[in-house]
Amino acid sequence: SRILVLNGPNLDILGRRDPEQYGTVTLAEIEAIVHTEAAVHGLEADFRQTNREGELVEWLHEALDDFAAVVINPAAYAHTSVALHDAVEALWVPVVEVHLSNTWKREPFRHVDHVATAATAVIAGAGADGYRLAVAHVASLLA
Ligand code: DQA
Repeated sequence: SRILVLNGPNLDILGRRDPEQYGTVTLAEIEAIVHTEAAVHGLEADFRQTNREGELVEWLHEALDDFAAVVINPAAYAHTSVALHDAVEALWVPVVEVHLSNTWKREPFRHVDHVATAATAVIAGAGADGYRLAVAHVASLLA
């Protein structure tokens, strides 16, 4: 099966962005982790990043027909986007939300999560390993 792995705004500059919070791991390294874990479970991962909210909405729509599951780090749009909430809610495939940092121990504005209220599961605070865990979880849901 094919799974869709989506990344939102500012994750393209991971590695050079607020290393205290996010460490030095780059998105390219996360992509490699995702492909490796997907292969372990016999899955194929389509890994993407955008800084645009509407592009994330359109990519989520692709999971209506073309993907068995979604892993998404919506980044800051998790805290603001009702459009992403609605797009996730419209899917019947599993959607696992990932945040590198533990958003619950950060600023109060990160405690609102519109994607979490529609997602199947949420992993926050496990760093890049959260993506690996998310892929492993969708694999067990699909098995
Ligand atoms: C993040 C957490 C968000 O609050 C923040 O806006 C990000 C990254 C994370 O992966 O920890 O851009 O999604």
